[in-house]
Amino acid sequence: MNDLLPQDAHLWELFENTAQSVVQAYGFQQIRTPIVEETRLFARAIGAVTDIVEKEMYSFTDSMNGDQLTLRPEGTAGVVRSVIEHNLVYEGPKRLWYKGQMFRHERPQRGRYRQFHQFGCEAVGFTGPDVDAEMIMMCRRLWDDLGLDKIRLELNSIGDASERAAHRVELIKYFEAHADQLDAEAQRRLHSNPLRILDTKNPAMQELVTNAPKLLDYLGEASLAHFNGVQKILNHNNIPFKINPRLVRGLDYYNRTVFEWVTDELGAQGTVCAGGRYDPLIETFGGKPTPAVGFAMGIERLVELMKTAGEPAPGNQCDVYLVHQGEAAQLQAFVLGERLRDAGLDVVMHCAAPTGAGSFKSQMKKADGSGASFAVIIGEDEVANHTANVKAMRDEAGESQQSTVPFDGVVDFIVDHITDGGEEHHHFHVHDENCKH
Ligand code: HAM
Repeated sequence: MNDLLPQDAHLWELFENTAQSVVQAYGFQQIRTPIVEETRLFARAIGAVTDIVEKEMYSFTDSMNGDQLTLRPEGTAGVVRSVIEHNLVYEGPKRLWYKGQMFRHERPQRGRYRQFHQFGCEAVGFTGPDVDAEMIMMCRRLWDDLGLDKIRLELNSIGDASERAAHRVELIKYFEAHADQLDAEAQRRLHSNPLRILDTKNPAMQELVTNAPKLLDYLGEASLAHFNGVQKILNHNNIPFKINPRLVRGLDYYNRTVFEWVTDELGAQGTVCAGGRYDPLIETFGGKPTPAVGFAMGIERLVELMKTAGEPAPGNQCDVYLVHQGEAAQLQAFVLGERLRDAGLDVVMHCAAPTGAGSFKSQMKKADGSGASFAVIIGEDEVANHTANVKAMRDEAGESQQSTVPFDGVVDFIVDHITDGGEEHHHFHVHDENCKH
């Protein structure tokens, strides 16, 4: 479980803000569900013989009342519970998004953590392949907006339950005929979850699984039409993808479309986003039949990818750094700081405690280190003259200009210089851009 430190916070914010504005552009609305749910919700939704439920859940008994509870290992189950509990699809289908921490007791390694964060979407109440394609295109737009071009799409259809049942019979027959080539894990899964054997990372079994019966060959007419429908829209919109007949997913609720976005830049844990359709799930929990499709992205992995893609260093910490000397000047600085913030600027005020404000020189060093576009300096003279000294810290010409400005004119002076000056990375603009999204 990791701490998020300030030096990384701007990348997380950039990712989350961009993701949020992209999905909002497709009509998705936020939902927040609790981090803790009843254990049986996950066991039933994700499947009793999956890795997650068998060995990765942080489960505990509530000592107050004996409830069996679990820290959520993923977001879909809680959203589904909430959709049913609040009858969210009463007025029609809903597009939902969420973000937050998830917990899985996995063996930690690069890109795999015990507390991690997902950004996810669930579209509930939609039957057709159009929403599957829309979700995939939405991911593509997010990669583009983040400048991530080394992510590829793998797509598959795992059909409906009866199609999987027919395939399963043949798959077990095939693996039984080659039992000597199965590793211990595959033997354990042979009768409980043979489909997952196809997902093995064991190099010695690659040929065996490549030649195994393909689920795609068992799809009926309706499943095939759905799968073709998804591909048609993706092709029409120039979204490249590879059909991977062995893509099966590690959670049991899926049917038909499944997909993963994968990168080679992150080592073994290269799946940055994964999802698919889960039409029967809501009905099995007692809701009205409500087909649905969704995905979740691993935020740690995507932030890591943003770093490898050379995401620029953190922007300014603030627009204005306030330097002051003496008690009267500090009081003036407080007043000015509030006025600047009223005007939408980010302001850091030099803090006097615990060693006193320090010399102007040492304060100016701090101002420089803050990345501020302007330092505003108030000393005894400025207090006496009702002025402030405004210094442009990032002047393109190199010479940093210093102006004495009447105290009441400082806000306008700085706002004017920030909006029509050559400054590109100041916070004033950043706020602006977020508003446009
Ligand atoms: P998942 O494949 O289990 O699917 O997880 C989705 C993504 O979460 C992964 O592709 C990965 O990026 C990230 N992730 C998973 N486990 C970890 C971990 N231990 N450390 C870091 N990142 C991790 C789901 O969770 C489904 N609920 C997705 C979905 C939503 N399907 C339909 N709707």
